[in-house]
Amino acid sequence: MGGAMFDFLPTNPSDKAATYAELAEAVSAITTGESDRIANMANCAALIDAFVGDLNWSGFYRVVDGELVLGPFVGRPACIRIPFGKGVCGTSVSEKRTMLVDDVHAFPGHIACDSASRSELVVPIMKDGEVVAIIDLDSPSPARFDAEDQAGIEAVAAILAERF
Ligand code: SME
Repeated sequence: MGGAMFDFLPTNPSDKAATYAELAEAVSAITTGESDRIANMANCAALIDAFVGDLNWSGFYRVVDGELVLGPFVGRPACIRIPFGKGVCGTSVSEKRTMLVDDVHAFPGHIACDSASRSELVVPIMKDGEVVAIIDLDSPSPARFDAEDQAGIEAVAAILAERF
């Protein structure tokens, strides 16, 4: 299959602001008119992997029957179910906020799915005031994520929230 339709890559990966703007455009474009959540999360996991450097895991957990259940991702196989309030992901849900963790080894209750992970960014996708899923980015580098990464992934979460 050919076609440039899905050739989404950052123009200049060293320009972080521009790259996150392009990521948001790509997420919006690829999910427009598509209501299937799994398809949209799968494409977004691949887009995040392509646009955000120095990651060892990028993907989703969905809120299903009162717990987090693994969704589409790029990376090594991961824990399937995470209770609310547990680990970085479960804490993001119970506190309904973004978690930016510079050193996961110092985070109480961190769930080590991939031993390579050193820092983590978790952003909730909110619908009608409730968390419906979370976006989880793991990096092998300590303190990989800053406020610009947080804003960039929160923009992705806002776009996806409209599709849920
Ligand atoms: N480290 C996460 C678990 C998910 S994996 O990193 C993909 C946590 O503590 O919630």
